Amino acid sequence: MKRYHVTTFGCQMNEHDSERMKGMLRSLGYAEAARRGDADLILFNTCSIRESADSRFIAHLGEARRLKRERPERVVGVGGCWAQSLKDEVFERFPFVDVAFGPGQVHRLAEFLISDSLTAQGYFEFEGFTGHLPALRARPFQGWLQISVGCNCACAYCIVPSTRGREVSRPLAELVQEAEAMAADGVREVTLLGQNVNSYGRDLPSRAPATGPRAGGSPATRPTFAGLLAAIDAVEGIERIRYTSPHPKDMREDVIWAHAELASLCEHIHLPLQSGCSRILKAMRRTYDRQRYLDRVALIREHVPDVALTTDIIVGFPGETEEDFLQTMEVVEEVGYDGAFTFIFSPRRGTEAANTAEANVPHPVKVERMQRLVELVQRRARERALRFVGRTLEVLVEGPSRTDPDKLRGRTRHNKVVNFTGLAAPGELAQVRIESATSQTLSGEESLLARVAG
Ligand code: SAH
Ligand code: SF4
Ligand code: F3S
Repeated sequence: MKRYHVTTFGCQMNEHDSERMKGMLRSLGYAEAARRGDADLILFNTCSIRESADSRFIAHLGEARRLKRERPERVVGVGGCWAQSLKDEVFERFPFVDVAFGPGQVHRLAEFLISDSLTAQGYFEFEGFTGHLPALRARPFQGWLQISVGCNCACAYCIVPSTRGREVSRPLAELVQEAEAMAADGVREVTLLGQNVNSYGRDLPSRAPATGPRAGGSPATRPTFAGLLAAIDAVEGIERIRYTSPHPKDMREDVIWAHAELASLCEHIHLPLQSGCSRILKAMRRTYDRQRYLDRVALIREHVPDVALTTDIIVGFPGETEEDFLQTMEVVEEVGYDGAFTFIFSPRRGTEAANTAEANVPHPVKVERMQRLVELVQRRARERALRFVGRTLEVLVEGPSRTDPDKLRGRTRHNKVVNFTGLAAPGELAQVRIESATSQTLSGEESLLARVAG
């Protein structure tokens, strides 16, 4: 039996694509190898979002080159966003690579493996959502559901539109069916994936009204993201719904109400801010300003008071002054995020913001701003987390704690990691009494009384 090894870099999209790659390889008769050195097929699923992502991956290629030299019949494959951004240049730079493919071309890997091709092959078309590949899930009770591929935004710093193509939504009925199949397979928590999930459906055809002539009946409707959330909420067995990421410009009231109304939709919204300064947001082409973002946050908090809010922030975008940066700090202080991913701006090939040498913020300044931002984010996150102490929260158990094998680890509906003592098994929903909190994690003890009662 042939064996494969996959190394995944980047976001949840890539993690999901890797699960689909693994599912596909299993159906081709391949087994998974624990180590790269034991594999006949060495795969990398790459990311190119920042320069650090590129270099992390390239550091691994050295070992692949050595393994290929050792046994030339081994196949080395490179998929994902980095491969897509370089296309055939991959083979010029790394001649030992046998097959390269973009994120939308996972299924072509099978074509290549079956064909026994002796010449290197690249697959870089955009085809929308490709193939219904079975996923080999990392945890049987958690599943990804890709609701759309690609992105129609033009954020000046971002490489993704060029690596994932235009936005294509999948039909609603197909997504509900997939969620039902996942539930039947034991999935309890589903995460809807898309670059801009709340623009879901805008590219789909409208449905004619069910009865009567169009003029007299209800107007034709297009599926919306809020409608999709309600449809997934109705799937029996799916107890938690998450999604990532919404775009603040498209965060509409119907989605906020859905959080208040749908039992399985979790109390967590990841709402990427990027910058708190309207001038920088404009240069980033985010199409909202500071006030509009803050208005969305206010509306969310009004309808879902206990919601956890997290965000993404970029420091050192070209032209960002100290005053601009201080506006970001103000928004972070004011919103009080439960957590934030913070990034130093990294120029990406082919993007609008890559050629702004004169406006570049010096690296030491970026680093210094980043330190101040991280300190503030952590202080606010810790303050926010304290509201959970003393409460009993529902935790989906993921496995043993990473720091203490005698403890369990799981996540609350607010997406907070909890380390706790208890008896629950992975995949179970435990009731955990929270005893303490840091900016990153909560800790507590399983309420065994609730267990007996439940
Ligand atoms: N579609 C998602 C984001 C995907 S990329 C969304 O819009 O929310 C994840 C995050 O990486 C972005 O939100 C941004 O904060 C960061 N990022 C993207 N390009 C970057 C770059 N060139 N430099 C630094 N950070 C970047
Ligand atoms: Fe990139 Fe902007 Fe699209 Fe997100 S919305 S993937 S940041 S272009
Ligand atoms: Fe994801 Fe990285 Fe591509 S963040 S969309 S894998 S560039």
